[in-house]
Amino acid sequence: MAGRIREDDVSHIRHSSRIDDVVGDYVQLKNAGGGQKKGLCPFHDEKSPSFHVTPSKGFYHCFGCQSGGDVISFVMKIEHLSFTEAVERLADRMNYQLTYEEGPARTGGSDRKRLLEANRLAALFYQEQLQQPGPAQVGREFLQSRGFDKAAAAKFGVGYAPDEWDALSQHLKGRGFTDAELELAGLTKPGQRGHIDRFRNRLVWPIHEISGDVVGFGARRLSEADTGPKYLNTPETPIYKKSALLYGLEMAKKEIAKKRQVVVVEGYTDVMATHLAGIETAVATCGTAFGDEHIRILRRLLMDDDAFRGEVIFTFDGDEAGQKAALRAFNDDQKFVSQTFVAVEERGLDPCELRIKDGDTAVRDLIARRVPLFEFAIKSKLKLFNLNTAEGRVSALKECAPLINKIRDKALRPEYVRSLAGWIGVDIELVRDAVGRGSRESVGASRSGLEKSSPTYLLEREVLKSILQRSELSQSWPELMAEDFDDEALQSVFAAIAAEPAMLSSIPDLISRCEPEAAALITELTVEPLRTNELTTFFIDSLVARLREVSVTRKISELKSTLQRLDPESPDYGPTFTQLVALEAMRRALHEKGLGEALL
Ligand code: CTP
Ligand code: MN
Repeated sequence: MAGRIREDDVSHIRHSSRIDDVVGDYVQLKNAGGGQKKGLCPFHDEKSPSFHVTPSKGFYHCFGCQSGGDVISFVMKIEHLSFTEAVERLADRMNYQLTYEEGPARTGGSDRKRLLEANRLAALFYQEQLQQPGPAQVGREFLQSRGFDKAAAAKFGVGYAPDEWDALSQHLKGRGFTDAELELAGLTKPGQRGHIDRFRNRLVWPIHEISGDVVGFGARRLSEADTGPKYLNTPETPIYKKSALLYGLEMAKKEIAKKRQVVVVEGYTDVMATHLAGIETAVATCGTAFGDEHIRILRRLLMDDDAFRGEVIFTFDGDEAGQKAALRAFNDDQKFVSQTFVAVEERGLDPCELRIKDGDTAVRDLIARRVPLFEFAIKSKLKLFNLNTAEGRVSALKECAPLINKIRDKALRPEYVRSLAGWIGVDIELVRDAVGRGSRESVGASRSGLEKSSPTYLLEREVLKSILQRSELSQSWPELMAEDFDDEALQSVFAAIAAEPAMLSSIPDLISRCEPEAAALITELTVEPLRTNELTTFFIDSLVARLREVSVTRKISELKSTLQRLDPESPDYGPTFTQLVALEAMRRALHEKGLGEALL
């Protein structure tokens, strides 16, 4: 049993840690008068700050979610630590040596601390390995080929995982770590004969959480013979939660808050290149899509006075990726959108490639040429029409006017009406009419290509009806994603539910948060009888499985067509094929569960 921290020490830590400094690592705080500071609450989602900190008393309190306490409880809550771990964390922060009541120092230590230590030592080990002669040479050459010299690699702590089964594992076991700890940290995995290193013969980037600790790694394949994916990441562990991590954030957080700007790029090398080019606000997700959790983290850093201000700039290599993301803008809940910008490199270069080819200035220019997301999305659509003909202009107007209607922030619409008129080359009146007409007609009107009588449409509808009517029966519905719904209107209803599942217990509240169009649809789906006499868990779960199967099938056919267009020699061929195989397996599994076809 580990010793207790002396009561005197706890009290010392509590009184000498400045709560506004500690909170300030996570939340942008502003003076709120009366010696108070406030910011966006890190414990619940909010748009205006109700999170107050009183430095003189050492307390925090959120008027929105009622959470509150002292500096220790703040650290416990935000880092998911025990009391002892939180005190240890704060002591580390001020370089204070704690004493324990039984025995001089603690042996063993808590999980979290051990996992962090294992990751810290692993990062150092990998960094040293990068300097070794032999196979690490390939890693150094890769860095060089991407335009990174030794100093750049050191700045980002890039390392090399040796081409051996258990080099890291042996190294860390020599320092007292157990197989169980290393596996829990995601650094090793069970093999046929004992544990083996997860990353072998790869270039590795340490991934830090916002406070600066290394919690995991991203690792790039170096050898053609490596059949694994191009990039491997640490799996989910007690300290590595990919949905809440942004690569580069610990380096960028101060600049992000200062410049009120964040640049979201698509990879580890892109973060390096962008920073080195002088844009020190760049971050990237770690092997996952940019999601709600990432938004929440950035919002907290971009808080100013009572409002969220600043720019979130997404870079995309190439039109296609950018357009796909941009069109999603109209479906997402849009609370972030008016501050969202897009920077597209027309030749399809990512920031790393652009820096190699045209230098630092070109990267800075790319960011400077950003365009508001709505503008980008509408202009992408306009490209499909020949605006030199009257027919082309009429069709363009018909297609683009509804996009303006989908902008939630009504104050922005007149601005876009004016712009669209200019972009197409027609009178403002004409655009205003088209937009006005759109908003009247859109109730019940078909917006997506899905036939209202198609089996897929009926299935999607049935799933939503069961969720709205009896969500508590099903454990499986949260596995659905908005993109599983092909019909646009149904998709946005699902997105609204998924954004706040708690609202399911109060449909009127859910409805009150939606646009009239979605609200009407929700009412309809809530009252329409289901196509079954008895709504059971089995019924809902098999509908859900069937819907996911249909969605996976759609993805499979997209992948197959990608594969057809890929050169089998291309480095992307292998990973795409692997993904296809995985999806096929998933489809089979879902097929067994999904009796929806028979039920409908
Ligand atoms: N990525 C990933 N898993 C993969 C492929 C990519 O997690 N199988 C993530 C990585 O974070 C990667 C980013 O997506 O950095 C961008 O991928 P890509 O554009 O393919 O990689 P680059 O970094 O541009 O490629 P390179 O390493 O060749 O410079
Ligand atoms: Mn790239």
